Amino acid sequence: MKLPKQVEIIEVGPRDGLQNEMVFIPTDKKMSLINALNKTGIKRMEATSFVHPVYVPQMKDASEVFQGIVKDPKIQYMALIPNEKGFDRAIEQGVQAVSLVVGASNSFNLKNVKMTRAESIKKFENVVVKAKEQKIFVRYNIATAFWCPFEGAVDESLVVEMAKTINRLGADEIVLCDTIGRANPNQVYSLFSSIMELQPEAMITAHFHDTYGMGQANVLAALQAGVRQFDASIGGLGGCPFAPGAAGNVATEDVVFMMNELGIETGIDLEALRLSLDLVKQMSNRGLMSHYYSVLEHSCV
Ligand code: COA
Ligand code: ZN
Repeated sequence: MKLPKQVEIIEVGPRDGLQNEMVFIPTDKKMSLINALNKTGIKRMEATSFVHPVYVPQMKDASEVFQGIVKDPKIQYMALIPNEKGFDRAIEQGVQAVSLVVGASNSFNLKNVKMTRAESIKKFENVVVKAKEQKIFVRYNIATAFWCPFEGAVDESLVVEMAKTINRLGADEIVLCDTIGRANPNQVYSLFSSIMELQPEAMITAHFHDTYGMGQANVLAALQAGVRQFDASIGGLGGCPFAPGAAGNVATEDVVFMMNELGIETGIDLEALRLSLDLVKQMSNRGLMSHYYSVLEHSCV
């Protein structure tokens, strides 16, 4: 297998991981998790989201979290925003990197942000211009890039066209998300190969959920297609409140473990992830979807 020397793993646990937890996690616990993740070698993370507190109550303390965490100057802390209001709220708090989200599937986008896909794309044009003027890093997520919980399989050419538009707009990073964890490695290889062939100026990142246990296989397929950046969530937490049936993201520690085994550098210390793992274990009502953690728990090593 042709493998790169290194990849980057972007931690999305404090946002994607926690947003789907039903019981409100106290703000200081969210901050402790981010502060623990700071010490693991992670260089970029989604810390929170500036979304409507009624629709996603778990994220109602976004400002407090963002203000309260220890900010390591070597780490980029991103915040997800669903619209212009979210952008303004984030900027007020001093956020330097925003994570925009649009669903490739129109039905999903309507459920998620109450706008058609076209409306979201149009409104985000302004946001990207404003962000660029203020030298804010723009990460642009295409949610449901492979499958939609309401419409089924998503057309690859539609996602490629969206990626071209987003690249022309000047986004710094484009993230293709398998929001419901339904993609298979063939589909992943095909879409990412098409995107990489465009040679976009934006960085390309893969974001997988592990609903059917194909998360790591999809990471490997994307790696083969030339992707070098992967989102992952500590403890395998995650899921979108507006995408029924979605399980958590691929677990950070599982992806790090696989990369270590393949001799690929991530810069993340597996041992150092243990404290963060213990913290998410205490926070979540659900069991962790993490192979590495279950090995630790059952003392198999
Ligand atoms: N944060 C907080 N309040 C917001 C907001 C934001 N990002 N965007 C809009 N609002 C407020 C408006 O100011 C307005 O307030 P008012 O009634 O006091 O005037 C009210 O919400 C309605 O505004 P509107 O633009 O019509 O919003 P909406 O009700 O159509 O909701 C979203 C749109 C995008 C805010 C909402 O669907 C949302 O937060 N979705 C988040 C989805 C998510 O987090 N998914 C998981 C991650 S992908
Ligand atoms: Zn996700």
